[in-house]
Amino acid sequence: MIIVLLGPPGAGKGTQAQRIMSSRGIVQLSTGDMLRAAVANQTEVGRKAKEFMDAGKLVTDEIVIGIIADRIEEEDCKNGFLLDGFPRTVAQAEALDDLLENKNLKVDAVIEMKVDDEALVDRITGRYTCAECNAGYHDTNLKPRVAGVCDSCGSTNFKRRADDNRETVVSRLETYHAQTAPLLPYYSGKGVLKTIDGMADIDDVTTQINEVLDAL
Ligand code: AP5
Ligand code: MG
Ligand code: ZN
Repeated sequence: MIIVLLGPPGAGKGTQAQRIMSSRGIVQLSTGDMLRAAVANQTEVGRKAKEFMDAGKLVTDEIVIGIIADRIEEEDCKNGFLLDGFPRTVAQAEALDDLLENKNLKVDAVIEMKVDDEALVDRITGRYTCAECNAGYHDTNLKPRVAGVCDSCGSTNFKRRADDNRETVVSRLETYHAQTAPLLPYYSGKGVLKTIDGMADIDDVTTQINEVLDAL
């Protein structure tokens, strides 16, 4: 099963991908997480990507396509994967189709998570994650059961993303509308686009996604 989660910054792609990964055992491939790891490790890719990420702009197609092309060859992708934050341009979508076609595979569903722009800024500026296991939280929408302690691993270390500030969020949203939204007609034309209401609460969004996946 090859699934794409498509939606603007803060739509809930990462939150839902973690849930699907644990309930269905398919691996989450987040280009944002991979690029942040590259930046933290100061790799060549990380050095090239940082400037774009800090500005809320897209990293070049060449870099992210290269990352995904390598990643989907790994053993844990054999039974399918869930793409979070890729593709983000029509060129990336076409490259993905070519990569999959070489393996006699195709994208099974693209799940569009529709959320109003106004809600996104609040979601992103309130977001933080566990520094140890990467579990996601929010200042008001999704707090750990015990304040200051990660539900999943018990760590008390949390972190916030460098690009989760108001100015960068506005730029990320503009980038989404200009460069990523054209993927909607692209996938709708292929008959794989499923749109869900991303404004609903987190559990309800999970239910909607499960309904789409069960129907495949
Ligand atoms: P990336 O890491 O992909 O960031 P993004 O697309 O901006 O999306 P986010 O991770 O911010 O949002 P999300 O949808 O995962 O939301 P989340 O579940 O965390 O990319 C970062 C950068 O890397 C890009 O700007 C670009 O520079 C580069 N990049 C990455 N991929 C690239 C590519 N393919 N090509 C080129 N460049 C690329 O939820 C957000 C918050 O809201 C959380 O706190 C959560 O608890 C809360 N929340 C979630 N769902 C709900 C809900 N239903 N109700 C209330 N609160 C909710
Ligand atoms: Mg994310
Ligand atoms: Zn944790």
